[in-house]
Amino acid sequence: MVQATPFLLVLFLALGAQGLSVKKCSLTGMWINDLGSNMTITTVDANGDFTGAYWTAVSATPKEIEVSPLLGSQHLPNQLNQPTFGFTVNWSFSDSITVFTGQCFVDDDGKEVLKTMWLLRSRVESIKSDWKATRVGTNIFTRLQS
Ligand code: BTN
Repeated sequence: MVQATPFLLVLFLALGAQGLSVKKCSLTGMWINDLGSNMTITTVDANGDFTGAYWTAVSATPKEIEVSPLLGSQHLPNQLNQPTFGFTVNWSFSDSITVFTGQCFVDDDGKEVLKTMWLLRSRVESIKSDWKATRVGTNIFTRLQS
């Protein structure tokens, strides 16, 4: 027990130092993705719930693009360690909905990056067209302003 104490102390200090050096990945702020779309996440509350606004650079419809609201949720216990999250965008200018799911990472350069996957559900006239109503893809977001 006496011999184990210094070892445990060194281990504890090493783990503690590592924990302090890990940069926090936070969803709050302004982001741009690989398509040129922008989103702003205003605040994440104590439950991990958040709201924001999304401006898409592209659309599956010919309608004029408008800023649209987003509503999401993130895991809180992992806040210091790259949390997972999901959010929904209810498009203001079309009858579609997109759900995103992803994880907030700190890359090797210390920059925050959101790796996401999405499903875009478009409205179709009848159940016969259901098969073509859902698109799937990925987006990578980086921070616009720190
Ligand atoms: C629509 O076309 O009905 C609404 C706009 C959808 C934009 C999609 S959502 C997934 C992908 N990522 C983006 O930033 N924009 C497109």
